[in-house]
Amino acid sequence: MTEFSEKILLPFIINLHRIDVYEEHGGYQALRKAVKMKPENVTDEVKKSNLKGRGGGCFPTGLKWTFMPKDSIKPKYLCANGDEGEPGTFKDRQIFELNPHLFIEGCLIAAYAMGVQTIYVYIRGEYTKWINLLQKAIDDAYARNYIGKNILGTNFSAEMYIFKGAGAYICGEESSLMNSIEGDRGYPRVKPPFPAQNGLWGCPTTINNIETLSNVPLIINRGWEWYSKIGAPRHPGTLLFGISGHVNKPGVYELPTGVLLTDLIYKYAGGVSGNKKIKAVIPGGSSTMWLRGEEIESVRMDADSLKAIGTSIGTGGVIIMDEDTDVLKVLARITHFYHHESCGQCTPCREGCGWMEKILKRFLAGEGTMKDIDLLLSVANNIEGNTVCALGDAAAWPVQSVIKKFREEFEKRVRESPIEKKYVAPPHLVTD
Ligand SMILES: Cc1cc2nc3c(=O)[nH]c(=O)nc-3n(C[C@H](O)[C@H](O)[C@H](O)COP(=O)(O)O)c2cc1C
Repeated sequence: MTEFSEKILLPFIINLHRIDVYEEHGGYQALRKAVKMKPENVTDEVKKSNLKGRGGGCFPTGLKWTFMPKDSIKPKYLCANGDEGEPGTFKDRQIFELNPHLFIEGCLIAAYAMGVQTIYVYIRGEYTKWINLLQKAIDDAYARNYIGKNILGTNFSAEMYIFKGAGAYICGEESSLMNSIEGDRGYPRVKPPFPAQNGLWGCPTTINNIETLSNVPLIINRGWEWYSKIGAPRHPGTLLFGISGHVNKPGVYELPTGVLLTDLIYKYAGGVSGNKKIKAVIPGGSSTMWLRGEEIESVRMDADSLKAIGTSIGTGGVIIMDEDTDVLKVLARITHFYHHESCGQCTPCREGCGWMEKILKRFLAGEGTMKDIDLLLSVANNIEGNTVCALGDAAAWPVQSVIKKFREEFEKRVRESPIEKKYVAPPHLVTD
């Protein structure tokens, strides 16, 4: 792994969000280069760079683009996913604010490569400030013919629209996102068929995250070889790590993949508030499996390294909890989120998330029993893998991992409960 300190997605350039400043620093040169290439060669360049999706799933971007049919007579769509509804994830809005033209340029190159005529940028509705900033950038790009008809004097034309989400986490899931754009309820669709075959209005569609697309101009400008050498070889590039919780300097830090988790916490995010010890870390947004504080030494922040220790890089949203944290309380709060955000389509998720929340609340009220620990685990296990989309998994994983890593916290709670000794559960709470 190489040492790499450059900020390529969010460089420190004053007013880079302005189109003239962006152009002064080489902006839109990658698009100029791309439209002179064969579309399949553009895709090939992205494929060879080994860029992996930044929306949570780490799917290879170039490979995804090859799924778009070349000979379809239907319109083709690109949806840029900026719903960013997961707790602990707050990085895409930095791109909208600080470097929106890099993202727009990435969308246009992707559209050119896949023969897409229409780009939708799906942004969470609460992001009013960032929606307005991006709209201004899109207007400026239209005015300079980077978007619109016959872009840069070629036969390539593409329109770009912002679509505001209405505050539903489920609409970040790619098929719900398409239903939402179509004006339907944001229910996930059963796959297959996959979006490349049957996406928006039944037409070929690709969905990519905002940060993923923002990497594309860099790959085209500087070549796949350069890009593939940044950070961890099998998951290259920089990541916008959003770090929050009990650290002195929470925020978004652009660092190469494979950076040490401890460097992220102590070197960049200023260490733990009050110099306390770390009790737990959520490494990649609220849906990823937790780590205990003692486990984080020498953990590297890339897809393979985190997979090897039973968790995942997710969206790179790192949440730090200090030694005084009540992990059950945090887990109950996260589970409340998933219960609230479950769209209700699949029974295991609709009912299971509610059951998990209820059981966790029992523990918080001092009414949990030893049997409840395994009951909770059993509910989580029955949600995982049994739903149309991954929201169910996202709800189950934190519960499974906290039981695995912090079982003693549940047991302590039960032992210390005055109710455990004399309490007789009413029939509706009897669990066996
Ligand atoms: C419940 C749920 C919410 C999601 N929210 C987002 C989101 O806000 N942004 C995002 O890019 N991907 C989100 N995803 C992942 C998308 O379905 C999809 O995999 C991603 O946008 C693909 O982009 P990528 O290949 O560039 O990573 C979510 C998935 C699920 C199951």
